[in-house]
Amino acid sequence: MRFLAAIGALAIVVGIGAAAFFFGGYYSVAGTTEDPAAVTWALTRVRTASINRHANDNPPASFGDAAMVQAGAKAYASFGCANCHGAPGVKWLKYSEGLHPDPPDLKEVAGELTPAQLFWVIKNGINMTGMPSFAQAGAQDDEIWSIAAFVKKLPSVSDADYKTWTASAEPKQ
Ligand code: HEC
Repeated sequence: MRFLAAIGALAIVVGIGAAAFFFGGYYSVAGTTEDPAAVTWALTRVRTASINRHANDNPPASFGDAAMVQAGAKAYASFGCANCHGAPGVKWLKYSEGLHPDPPDLKEVAGELTPAQLFWVIKNGINMTGMPSFAQAGAQDDEIWSIAAFVKKLPSVSDADYKTWTASAEPKQ
């Protein structure tokens, strides 16, 4: 009994200490502070597991067609993905270097994520990171599938192709 009471008392003290630390403003929310390695590891695992479990939609039959990839490039440019992730021949904007976690190079991610996973991430975003939900930004499902098809093809898209495909892209308002 005494032992349990001691554990209970300790839990209360730890709880009060944590409340004072977080609500007293001692924890820094600065975007310049690197997360400890253990936090980064845990967040990455949770993110990957969550995307794996939720991404269940089947791509349309036309997924990967040239027309769809080109429409996807245009939507990618219009929705401003290049500002954070860059694109063939386009450097990301400087401010994206101030984001933690930083936006990955999608050429490298393209091979790791399935079409359904790309669709889910672009549609829903990733909470508590800079990755927005593009469904909330007004993108329709067919547009999102086309963006996913373009991202899948990214490793083989030349600078010149990207320039041609996005020549008439207007920023989304
Ligand atoms: C404001 C900056 C910003 C914009 C704009 C943005 N992203 Fe992201 N994106 C991020 C960040 C930051 C991450 C990393 C999140 C993380 O590490 O969990 C990310 C992650 C991703 C991932 C997941 C990578 C992985 O390994 O799971 C994909 C795919 C992606 N973005 C695609 C896009 C596409 C396509 C667009 C445009 C429709 C877009 N992003 C627009 C910031 C952005």
